Amino acid sequence: MKILAFAASNSRKSINKDLIKYAATLLDQHDVEIIDINDYDMPIYSSDLEEAHGIPDAASSFLKKIEYADALLISYAEHNGNYTVAYKNLFDWASRADREVYQGKSIVMLSTSPGSGGAKSVLSLATESAHFFSGEVKASLSIPNFHDNFDKEKGELNNTDLVSELRAVLTSLTSTDSH
Ligand SMILES: Cc1cc2nc3c(=O)[nH]c(=O)nc-3n(C[C@H](O)[C@H](O)[C@H](O)COP(=O)(O)O)c2cc1C
Repeated sequence: MKILAFAASNSRKSINKDLIKYAATLLDQHDVEIIDINDYDMPIYSSDLEEAHGIPDAASSFLKKIEYADALLISYAEHNGNYTVAYKNLFDWASRADREVYQGKSIVMLSTSPGSGGAKSVLSLATESAHFFSGEVKASLSIPNFHDNFDKEKGELNNTDLVSELRAVLTSLTSTDSH
């Protein structure tokens, strides 16, 4: 199964990217491609810009990545209870090219933050709205208190309960595997 994975954060030190990289190690039977949303940088969405110049190529490139994948693994960073501006911008531009941004793909949605909330607000926004964009959310998991639960040197979760929960949600992504 070809899985496209990314953190919905433009931070070079993104903890959600750390989580994605770790989750990818648990999916070693599969072909996981991790992309960086910084590679899809675009000006802040504006209808004026769209009318004047059209939709930037980066939006189509992002949509193509999704199209070529069988499933998606996304980890959301939370800024003020919401998406990071970087992901929202990418998503908004992509939705102008194709409102069905997630193109019918199965998705596992994760989130993490340094606090006890574990970015649950943005995770809830993402899971509850995915169907409007043709995304089929198979499971979701928020990891609270990231720095307490993740060994940065080893690049892995060190909380065995959370490891089990993560394995379980990842299984729900790959259980439809017919390849
Ligand atoms: C502007 C801003 C707002 C934030 N708001 C929240 C928040 O609402 N909830 C939360 O759990 N963390 C919040 N944080 C802390 C982030 O969870 C933390 O920066 C985290 O590292 C972001 O994920 P990332 O490293 O993957 O980008 C905020 C951080 C910033 C810079």
